[in-house]
Amino acid sequence: AEVLVTVGATEAISAAVLGLVEPGSEVIVLEPCYDAYAAAIALAGAQRVAVPLVPDGATWTVDIDAVRAAVTKRTSMIIVNSPHNPTGSVFSREVLVALAAVCVERDLLVLSDEVYENLLFDGRTHTALAALPGMFERTVTVSSAAKSWNVTGWKTGWALAPAPLLDAVLKAKQFMSYVGATPFQPAVAHALNEESEWLAGMVAELAEGRDLLVAGLKAAGLEVHDTHGTYFVVADISALGETDGVRFCLDLPGRIGVAAIPVQVFCDDPGPWRTKVRFAFGKRHDTLRLGVEKLQSL
Ligand SMILES: Cc1ncc(COP(=O)(O)O)c(C=O)c1O
Repeated sequence: AEVLVTVGATEAISAAVLGLVEPGSEVIVLEPCYDAYAAAIALAGAQRVAVPLVPDGATWTVDIDAVRAAVTKRTSMIIVNSPHNPTGSVFSREVLVALAAVCVERDLLVLSDEVYENLLFDGRTHTALAALPGMFERTVTVSSAAKSWNVTGWKTGWALAPAPLLDAVLKAKQFMSYVGATPFQPAVAHALNEESEWLAGMVAELAEGRDLLVAGLKAAGLEVHDTHGTYFVVADISALGETDGVRFCLDLPGRIGVAAIPVQVFCDDPGPWRTKVRFAFGKRHDTLRLGVEKLQSL
């Protein structure tokens, strides 16, 4: 693949959608989904078509039949994100293979947001969509130094794609930023080439933080969903007698000094997600312990 360095994954996402999606066409997103997708689709003058993830044991997965049913003559792209923000789901290789088959069958472009590719726990491994049969020539893969190297402020990301696709992404990026801050780029290259041990240590620490937060949420009486990657875990607040995540999350900082995000804000159809709340464990363990202590007063 060719490589285009971007101002974070965010610019790669916007440039890919602006460069490849025509006004009036449709883009499928799997909801809940990261908010930058909706914004990029709107900027491109395209139409967002949301296909909800479906429960799969204690986590969620892609409903392949629903994706197939959502494709119309105007569909140009599908945006996929695994490991997944906000649920922490890591879609199985089998599901991604089935999704790839739909993309090939319906000749869709694919934007694969893989920013959490290295933040995987419990022996999970990453499946790069572009590496699946028939996918290389239709896929723009986006990632970033932000998550793997704990450098969110460096805003150094990239898009990978075959030249004809990446050329369209470059044409949009050229007029968004022209170039990202260059001093960060050799540092990121060094990290990618030399620092896999540091990364393994950081991920092990992150998994411990996940365990700490999950145990604390359970002790506080919440039902907790599985998470096998990312910084995030989703809890259900129904057991606390709560019915609306937005109200719960608006109150939470004032009540106990903890912040969380209602999953419904990542959705067009809040219905199934109303009592789901996303907590983040990408914090120092001291901070997580303090948060867990405060959660016990819920
Ligand atoms: C799914 C997803 N994609 C993209 C990004 C943005 O990455 P960057 O900071 O490299 O722009 C984030 C950051 O939260 C994210 O969660």
